[in-house]
Amino acid sequence: MLHIGIIGLGAIGQRLISQFKNHSEVEIVAVCDQLETLAKESANALGGIPFYTEPTSLIDHPLVDLVYVAIPPKYHHPIVMEVLYAKKHVLCEKPLANSLEEANEMAQTAKDVGVVHAMNFPLNYGQAAAKFAELINQQYIGKLRRIHLTMNFPEWPRTWQKNNWVGGREQGGFVLEVGVHFIQQILKLFGDIKNIRTRLELPDNPEECETGIIATAELTDGTPILIEGLSKLAGKEFIGFTAYGSEGVLSLENWGQLKGGKCSEEIKEISCENISSTNLIEELVKAVNGHEADLYTFEVGYKAQEVLEQLRKM
Ligand SMILES: NC(=O)c1ccc[n+]([C@@H]2O[C@H](COP(=O)([O-])OP(=O)(O)OC[C@H]3O[C@@H](n4cnc5c(N)ncnc54)[C@H](O)[C@@H]3O)[C@@H](O)[C@H]2O)c1
Repeated sequence: MLHIGIIGLGAIGQRLISQFKNHSEVEIVAVCDQLETLAKESANALGGIPFYTEPTSLIDHPLVDLVYVAIPPKYHHPIVMEVLYAKKHVLCEKPLANSLEEANEMAQTAKDVGVVHAMNFPLNYGQAAAKFAELINQQYIGKLRRIHLTMNFPEWPRTWQKNNWVGGREQGGFVLEVGVHFIQQILKLFGDIKNIRTRLELPDNPEECETGIIATAELTDGTPILIEGLSKLAGKEFIGFTAYGSEGVLSLENWGQLKGGKCSEEIKEISCENISSTNLIEELVKAVNGHEADLYTFEVGYKAQEVLEQLRKM
């Protein structure tokens, strides 16, 4: 049994609680949030397990084998470093940190300490993204010509993630919060990203995050990447991740919908029902038990951070 402690019980912390509860080989043994009422409520909902408001108390809990860190990005570094110094396994939310220096120290220390370190990049465990990767690897689109990421948010912060930081410039904004998932996919499927040029639309208030981005970059072979997005606009939220090739086009839309077509044909929805995908919690259990696992380590988080820092250059 893998004993989990959770720090941060907000939107994503609650989502992962449900996933941990569905897995027979893990048990949540303690929770922590700086909001005492939230910590207490969550602990009660989990059968009256211990709860804390101080991360250190949870990290030091002798039963905790793995700490899941689900607090806002600027607190990832200090808390994760404490977990690593305690030599406990760690699952950290994306983005890894709030600067490249922090991300580097976390990735280095995790490697040196030798614990399991992983990031929550859920696209890697979804059927549509798995099918997208499979079709790319099978040359469905032929030779890659262009990668295009669109992120449109009529409302930012989104209705399900209203908090006091995700609309702020210091650690929020959709480039960091949402873009990171697709940067990680580009790095995984297509390799390194170079020659990043970015233009952000920034509100006059220096506390508020970007409301737009147009950025270009290249893969190492020169294949162009276009990243663009806007918030506060009409219409519906739309996130499109598209690869254009010599023989066709493939798009992952709104996280879970796959569409594609061969050149000169209609673009159609592609079914992903029979695709087998892995599961983050199962992979964590495997890794902690010393088996090979499909995890995205702090090294992956660091590489994504490198690109994000350049995209978010003011
Ligand atoms: N992987 C994903 O798909 C995904 C989705 C949403 C959010 N996230 C990431 O998860 C993290 C949390 O996001 P969220 O939307 O749940 O935020 P949130 O603001 O809803 O929740 C964060 C919680 O952490 C608590 N907290 C903050 N600082 C703390 C501290 N020092 N000690 C203890 N508790 C503290 C807050 O009280 C709050 O309850 C962020 O890094 C975000 O980018 C990831």
